[in-house]
Amino acid sequence: MIAVDPLHPEPAAIQHAVECLIRGGLVAFPTETVYGLGAHAFDPSAVRRIFTAKGRPSTDPLIVHLASIADVRTVAADIPSIVETLGRRFWPGPLTLLLPRCDSLPPEVSAGLDTVAVRIPSHPVAQALLQAAGLPIAAPSANLFGHTSPTQARHVMDDLGGRIDLILDAGPTDWGVESTILDPLKIPPVLLRPGGISIAELESVLGPIRVASPGERISASPGRQPRHYAPYARLILCPGETPAEIVESILSIARRERKEDRRIGLLVASEIASRIDPEEPSVILRNLGSLGDLRGVSRRLFTCLRELESEGADLILAHRLPNGGVGAALNDRLTRAAAEEKKSPHP
Ligand code: TXA
Ligand code: MG
Repeated sequence: MIAVDPLHPEPAAIQHAVECLIRGGLVAFPTETVYGLGAHAFDPSAVRRIFTAKGRPSTDPLIVHLASIADVRTVAADIPSIVETLGRRFWPGPLTLLLPRCDSLPPEVSAGLDTVAVRIPSHPVAQALLQAAGLPIAAPSANLFGHTSPTQARHVMDDLGGRIDLILDAGPTDWGVESTILDPLKIPPVLLRPGGISIAELESVLGPIRVASPGERISASPGRQPRHYAPYARLILCPGETPAEIVESILSIARRERKEDRRIGLLVASEIASRIDPEEPSVILRNLGSLGDLRGVSRRLFTCLRELESEGADLILAHRLPNGGVGAALNDRLTRAAAEEKKSPHP
């Protein structure tokens, strides 16, 4: 792990990372959304190592990260004008677009699909790395498959330490939630994953878009399976519209679920936290910040989930958030984390 300045990354650290990528190594690096696990996108064996390191099925395609719009043509067969328009408005930033892929891109990157997902990240460290490498970098989130995405270098170390070659540590990421994924070529365009760029912002450019339903399978994209982005503990989304209703449902579920030795994590906004007695037995409280500051909640959400996990919570009680702006992405991740399915295997 190498510490780098988040705004002015040290050229020596970036050069070290570039050499590692060129040799076929795996480098975890910060983006403005979450940490990514990067490999040289045109090196098929490096790309295959990503799937092995994460325990990710080879059927789940990767996002290719590029330095600028001009580089899109290195991986895409065609760049429709709508992509130029979206790119000028939202890149660099947390938007991923599906495009027809070019034949020279190793099929492993796109899991054999005829599209490639591309994104131009804005984080200065990601930008410095992409520019210095002069390569497209294939990178999923740098977590074990199915687990909560990493918003700090330590999270990457916890999940993947020993399986990868280098981690660039530039501190916590800004958004804390993954990019918005859009298929801009469908009519109407289809939102595959809500993220930092909101539905309203996309619609201001595109007109109405269709939001894929959570369980919907699109282009065999298994990242859309219901339980994903999940902590290892069970998570329940407690009902309620107002803070008072949410407090009531959380406390009644906490009291129902309370058992000897069980630790219950409460993952709540400050409007809820302030109404909960800090002496409430067997609970660990994590305050996500105010409902009026969803960017702040977004920055803290995955970190708080991981903290509750490492403090031994075996059950996490959370609640839905307002759905505007990044709220749609946060509710999507909470809903997926709550989806009842088998537990992810802890390494
Ligand atoms: O913010 C982000 O997007 C982060 C940072 C590192 O850029 N990356 C990220 O990658 O979240 P990942 O692999 O964890 O999630 C990417 C999702 C997966 O669910 C994958 O199935 C979907 O994008 N995806 C990638 N290529 C696709 C394609 N060609 N067609 C449909 N879905 C695709
Ligand atoms: Mg991921």
